[in-house]
Amino acid sequence: MREMAVHDIEELDLIGELGGLADLENNPRLALVYEVSRRAGSESRMTELLEQVIRMTQQTLNAQASSVLLTGDDEQELFFEVAEGPVSKALKRVKVSSDSGVAGQVVRTGKPLVVNDVSQSAHFDRTVDAVTGFTTASLICAPMVVHHRTVGVIEVLNKLDGSPFSRQDLEAVVSVATTAAMAIENTRLHQTVLDAYKATIATLAEAIDAKDPYTHGHSQRVMEYALIGGRSLSLTTREMEDLEYAGILHDVGKIAIDSQILNKPDKLTPAEWEIIRQHPGVGAALLKKIPFLERASDLVLYHHERYDGEGYPCGLRGEDIPVGSRILAVADAFDTMTTDRAYRPALTFDYTVGELYACAGSQFCPMAVEAFLSGLQAHTTHSRHFSAL
Ligand SMILES: [Fe+2]
Repeated sequence: MREMAVHDIEELDLIGELGGLADLENNPRLALVYEVSRRAGSESRMTELLEQVIRMTQQTLNAQASSVLLTGDDEQELFFEVAEGPVSKALKRVKVSSDSGVAGQVVRTGKPLVVNDVSQSAHFDRTVDAVTGFTTASLICAPMVVHHRTVGVIEVLNKLDGSPFSRQDLEAVVSVATTAAMAIENTRLHQTVLDAYKATIATLAEAIDAKDPYTHGHSQRVMEYALIGGRSLSLTTREMEDLEYAGILHDVGKIAIDSQILNKPDKLTPAEWEIIRQHPGVGAALLKKIPFLERASDLVLYHHERYDGEGYPCGLRGEDIPVGSRILAVADAFDTMTTDRAYRPALTFDYTVGELYACAGSQFCPMAVEAFLSGLQAHTTHSRHFSAL
C-alpha cells in the first residue's frame, strides 16, 4: 500500500501555499482530506493484468486453457474472474462450490495440486466440463494467498502435446499465482482507498455547501445533473469520472471566500465580485495538486466561462471551453434556479427550462443544454430527485 502518512498534517504549508485559506487552517479534516487525496496514486486494472498473466502462463506452459477463479465474499463459491481458451466465454457465467473440485481443494488447503490424469483424481469434479463442453485431461491449480488467506486460484489445463505437467510447470504457476495475489490485494486496497477518497470528497463538498445555508446539497446535485448531461453525450468512462469529481468539487474554491461575501443579501460591490470571481482559479489550484483530480481541475477552472466568451476567469469561448465545463455550467445554473436562494424562492421547472434554452448560444453551450435537458427528461421518469419538479 502506498504511503498514506497523515501524522504530519499540522506541518503542511498549505495555508501559505494557497494564500490564506482560512477554512483549511481552521478545519484539520479539510487539510487531512487534501493531503490524503494529494497522495493518491494511479489506478490499477486488475482484470486486464490477470488476463495478461494467464495468457502468458498458458503460452509458456504450452497449455490449452487457463483461468483465474476468485473466492466470493462468503467464501462458499468460486467464480471465474478471467479465462483463456476455447470455452472462455462460457466460463464467465460459471460459479463453483468451494467445497468440491480441484479448485475447492486448493482453496481449502492453500496447497497447489498437479493432476495429470483427472480420471484418477479424487478431487476432480466434471460439473464445469459438463456445462461448457470442454474436456479436461490434466491441470495445475495453484492458490493465490494474501495474508494467509486464499483469495482464489490459477488453473492451467491440458498440455497441447499431451505430455504431463512437470515440477517446473508447477513452480512457475505457483510463482505467478503469488504475484497475481499481490496484484489483487493491491487493487482491493486501491479500491478501498478510492472509496474513502470519494467519501471524504463528499464531506468536503458538504463543508463547502455549509458556508451558505441556501446551498445545502448543491454540490451533490450539480454532480448528478452533470453526469446526466455527460451520459447523454456518451462521454468516456474517464471523462465521466472527471465530471463526477469536478461536479461535486466545482465550488471548492469558495472555501477561500469570506462567508459574509458569499451570503451577502445585498448587491455585491465590484471589489467583492472580484473576490467571488477568484473561486474557480483557487479551486483548480487546489485540485491540480491531487493526482487523480488533476484533469477535473481544468473543468473546475472553466465552470464559469460563457459560450459567448463573456465569462470568467479566462474569457474562453465556444468549443475552447472543455465540454465537461460547459455541462457543469448548465448543471450549476439548473440547480441554482430550481432551489430557494437568499434573494428569491425557487423558480419553476418550466421557467428554468425556458431560461436554459433562451441562454443557449450566449451563456450556455447549446449542445450541453440539449444534452442535459434530454437526459433529464429520460431520467425523470425513474428518479425520485425530479418527482417534485
Ligand atoms: Fe462556481
